[in-house]
Amino acid sequence: MMKEVNLLSRYPKSRRDVRARLAHKSENREIALRFGMEYFDGPREQGYGGYRYDGRWIPIAEDIVRHFDLKAGDRVLDVGCAKGFLVKDLMKVCPGLEAYGLDLSEYAVMHCERDVVGRIHLGNALRLPFPDGSFQAVISINTIHNLDRSDCVRALSEIERLAPGQGYVQVDAYRNDAERKVFEDWMLTARTYGKSEDWMQILVEAGYTGDYYWTILEIDPEWTITD
Ligand SMILES: C[S@@+](CC[C@H](N)C(=O)[O-])C[C@H]1O[C@@H](n2cnc3c(N)ncnc32)[C@H](O)[C@@H]1O
Repeated sequence: MMKEVNLLSRYPKSRRDVRARLAHKSENREIALRFGMEYFDGPREQGYGGYRYDGRWIPIAEDIVRHFDLKAGDRVLDVGCAKGFLVKDLMKVCPGLEAYGLDLSEYAVMHCERDVVGRIHLGNALRLPFPDGSFQAVISINTIHNLDRSDCVRALSEIERLAPGQGYVQVDAYRNDAERKVFEDWMLTARTYGKSEDWMQILVEAGYTGDYYWTILEIDPEWTITD
């Protein structure tokens, strides 16, 4: 049954300069939403500010393999895999595991890690081009919130279709008004966001029975705009 579990607890925290990003927010948001070169490898104000492999997903890959008890020959899919860093590390920590990814960004797929060439599909989370029940686990980290609400429901039911009860979905959320303000100042691409209870409604509506967790921006008082 559906449960809250943080599989990203070993992901490093980063400081975020909310003020710098606010400068040209609507322009930056428009550029980021293309999920092209600027989003991945352009300035920090428009996205990642350089999305390069550095091994930071290895501990997370270990936790995913342990959590789903994945072994050689099993298939796992990462929806919104970007350049395939997690896909690469899943195969690194579990030799013989068949890991795949799917992403909307042609730029990301065209600049994926060498080790995962051919494993990364260009596609949309709304329609996963794979048969029912064909994966032992489907992961989607910080991706579903880029869809509008009804599409979130569709994407979640797609994950459920591929791996019933064997999903892990993490999305942006906040717990109070202060966190909401920081989130709205910082985020570029999210179309659906809310408190965890708002997300729970969406998960239930989708018939999703996998696991989930929230990405909550840490508030750095020095960099928070209060007015
Ligand atoms: C914030 S990044 C997350 C990347 C990676 N999962 C991570 O956690 O580092 C969001 C990713 O979702 C992809 N994306 C956005 N909308 C999508 C959609 N409808 N279907 C599939 N991928 C999508 C973007 O191209 C981008 O690679």
